[in-house]
Amino acid sequence: MESTQGHHDNQPLFMNRKEFLKTVMYGTAALGITACIGSCLSGCSDDVTAPSNVDFTLDLTLAANAALLTTGGYLVSNGVIVARTGTNQFTAVSAKCTHEGTQVAWQQSNNRFYCSNHGATFTSAGVVTGGPASKNLTQYNTTLTGNSLRVFS
Ligand code: FES
Repeated sequence: MESTQGHHDNQPLFMNRKEFLKTVMYGTAALGITACIGSCLSGCSDDVTAPSNVDFTLDLTLAANAALLTTGGYLVSNGVIVARTGTNQFTAVSAKCTHEGTQVAWQQSNNRFYCSNHGATFTSAGVVTGGPASKNLTQYNTTLTGNSLRVFS
């Protein structure tokens, strides 16, 4: 900054210009931050891709899958959130919120998937019921056979 003081013509104008430049620089930095946040708000949803060709089986006798033994329990596997919604009822949808990719949670008392990041809500089938998300979660099929829960596209 100081090394640019070689100019001796019209010093007051130079100072003004320097102040002006400083202001512009701060302004640009602020704009840069805003642009970054803005691009995430609008662009990150493009990075949220629901798993395709899903086909896996969860052994409910395993401790790792114990959450699914209780109604209202849920877990995430292979990018899919699987919830037990009733005695022998399950639902499975893509686990990443379609807004910016935060992992959603199952809320049994509200019968919905909920994203804690910005509050988006989805039905048990993954349909958007509250923004800012605008796209549905992808739902997958579930079939319980004995203690094996198959989750598939
Ligand atoms: S990431 Fe924004 S509502 Fe889910």
